Amino acid sequence: MAAASANSFLVGNNNTQIPTSQSLLHLTKPNTFHLPGKKTKPVSVRCVSSPTQLQDGSKPIPTGSQDRVFNFAAGPATLPENVLLKAQSDLYNWRGSGMSVMEMSHRGKEFLSIIQKAESDLRQLLEIPSEYSVLFLQGGATTQFAGLPLNLCKPDETVDFVVTGSWGDKAVKEAKKYCKTNVIWSGKGDKYTKVPSFDELEQSLDAKYLHICANETIHGVEFKDYPVVRNPNGFLVADMSSNFCSKPVDVSKFGVIYGGAQKNVGPSGVTIVIIRKDLIGDAQEITPVMLDYKIHDENSSLYNTPPCFGIYMCGLVFEDLLEQGGLKDVERKNVRKAGLLYNAIEESKGFYRCPVEKSVRSLMNVPFTLERSELEGEFIKEAAKEGMVQLKGHRSVGGMRASIYNAMPLAGVEKLVAFMKDFQAKHA
Ligand SMILES: Cc1ncc(COP(=O)(O)O)c(C=O)c1O
Repeated sequence: MAAASANSFLVGNNNTQIPTSQSLLHLTKPNTFHLPGKKTKPVSVRCVSSPTQLQDGSKPIPTGSQDRVFNFAAGPATLPENVLLKAQSDLYNWRGSGMSVMEMSHRGKEFLSIIQKAESDLRQLLEIPSEYSVLFLQGGATTQFAGLPLNLCKPDETVDFVVTGSWGDKAVKEAKKYCKTNVIWSGKGDKYTKVPSFDELEQSLDAKYLHICANETIHGVEFKDYPVVRNPNGFLVADMSSNFCSKPVDVSKFGVIYGGAQKNVGPSGVTIVIIRKDLIGDAQEITPVMLDYKIHDENSSLYNTPPCFGIYMCGLVFEDLLEQGGLKDVERKNVRKAGLLYNAIEESKGFYRCPVEKSVRSLMNVPFTLERSELEGEFIKEAAKEGMVQLKGHRSVGGMRASIYNAMPLAGVEKLVAFMKDFQAKHA
């Protein structure tokens, strides 16, 4: 009998078979489960406190890999397998506390140690200077589209926007409710395939800040460098939702960096805001308490109940990124993966096409189309049969999109490239 993945066992998957002793190896506290929807004998399960070590000192055996697909989703996206397995073994009893992270008080010493370690690991990863605060918030990056103008300017003040895709466009539309907006450059006319040269930008002299989306997830357009803000009192704000922690970033070039966690660093539900401390504390009066950076900063992101489990998961990812050698090494891997895929597109002699200008192609989201667009449905279906899922492009642009965030293994990209070559040969 094949070992059920411990994951499917915990979620009560109907296909789940009774776990073998192997998949229960890292469980020591007896418990009894009935698998839902099936007439089965009660199953005795044992759980341990330590996720990383078994009683004999060895690491838990990864039980899930044979069941997993290569998931090219844009977000929520694939997470590192070792992080998922660690979370799985922590799930029932976190480090001998007798509680799951989901059951802990956010004010208890256990959770405080989790959030503090997550912040300190993130600070180490991104080398965040001490004059910046790190906030773990909720509401997604979309909520920050309102939170930023509410906190950073008054209704009659102007914010400049460089719009390189749909997310930048949404940020403008939301900001318009709370300040004056000035779109100083938009790539819409070119179907969002470019980043402007910074010299050609006509920045407002009095703009409170300049907003960019560092990586446009839908269009696959990524800033490789950042504009300098013309107003000496202004600053740069970047939505880094889809390239957060994918490479080193000089945080000191920005007033604010923000992003949802669900692409590169955790599950949905956590939004990270990195903000220069002197920019905190002058929010518009109408700012809801949950959007006020000062409130969250003064309360170390614990003003109300935070997304505890999500923050814990982000912490595991930060730990994993540090163990991989930090963001320089992570970037090297990402460059290699993206290079493989873009090369395959180029070498296809037009069978596959990427519309994005070469110099600003994203390391994270690779959109491509087929010369014969009628084959796109078949491409997506056949790829799924081979365990490569979520390759359909965003509904607004069509075609395909392979999101290859940090957690996508090189093997996933190699498999996709091999599949693309086979598919082309079949349809040449
Ligand atoms: C670049 C970018 N900004 C903002 C968002 C919106 O994020 P959320 O869904 O967390 O509000 C997304 C979501 O995909 C995104 O990719």
